[in-house]
Amino acid sequence: ALISLRQLLDHAAEHDYGVPAFNVNNLEQTRAIMEAADATDSPVIMQASAGARKYAGAPFLRALMEAAMREFPHIPVVVHQDHGMSPAICQRSIALGFSSVMMDGSLGEDGKTPMDYEYNVDVTRTAVAMAHACGVSVEGELGCLGSLETGEAGEEDGSGAAGKLTHDQMLTDPEEAAAFVKATEVDALAIACGTSHGAYKFSRPPTGDILAIDRIKEINARIPGTHLVMHGSSSVPQDWLEIINEYGGEIPETYGVPVEQIQEGIRHGVRKINIDTDLRLASTGAIRRFLAHNPAEFDPRKYLKETQVAMRDICIARYESFGTAGNA
Ligand code: G3H
Ligand code: 13P
Ligand code: NA
Ligand code: ZN
Repeated sequence: ALISLRQLLDHAAEHDYGVPAFNVNNLEQTRAIMEAADATDSPVIMQASAGARKYAGAPFLRALMEAAMREFPHIPVVVHQDHGMSPAICQRSIALGFSSVMMDGSLGEDGKTPMDYEYNVDVTRTAVAMAHACGVSVEGELGCLGSLETGEAGEEDGSGAAGKLTHDQMLTDPEEAAAFVKATEVDALAIACGTSHGAYKFSRPPTGDILAIDRIKEINARIPGTHLVMHGSSSVPQDWLEIINEYGGEIPETYGVPVEQIQEGIRHGVRKINIDTDLRLASTGAIRRFLAHNPAEFDPRKYLKETQVAMRDICIARYESFGTAGNA
């Protein structure tokens, strides 16, 4: 059944768990998420990115999500629009029946120019007024995602700042967060705390606190009623990287956010954890391996089924480690 982000994250806060928000682009991902949620009794956040809307078309995506809810009517599902770069984009998603939208005013409409605080407040307020009138939740973003190790924003796919970032830009300021939430009334706030989008987050195996956990604690202490969101939260599974490279891929050495760091974040108010890259890596590894072992096979359902199983296993692992399991 369709629920809003606010409804789900209020429950998550009350019961101290986090919820992975998986990006969906196709049938296999949608099924993988729902089967994993069904197997672990977890509530679901599925989100459509700008790239997904471009690939599948927003109406197709929305209908896929609708079909998921029909087949699994007992599972609460938040249908979320990821990284909306303008109030108009959010409005279109609301019209399509999304129950939650992200208004990302930390960057301009080009998806890469860092914008100032006033601009961010202005567009986010507009989106909130529209969304709340329709019972739809809003996630805002303050600060620029960037790896504290590399100073890079990660993927330049419309959700990462262009060029090198300063240490300050990559850490959301707690006082500014308090003022932002007061001015905009967002339900959830994506913060910059050392994560970045895509597969290339860290060049060396992360040890200790690779994220700014103290900063998460300070923000949470300042805005305890606002649910925190961590973007760029893929863990970049080393076993899938090995499989990809074993079967013809060429992905350089790279590391993601360790699950233990995410769990530490969840202990300090992080409720929504965005994951896309991990499912992409698993899909590609599964296809490469299957086709290498079955060179005469040409039925797409055979290898696409492999991607579904690979993605489902990652979803199950995240539902279990974030404490989502058992809360549907
Ligand atoms: O914003 C983060 C998503 O991983 C971007 O995905 O390439 O489908 O727009 P996309
Ligand atoms: P990853 O690239 O780490 O999976 O992050 C996805 C994301 O934040 C989508 O908004
Ligand atoms: Na989002
Ligand atoms: Zn993101």
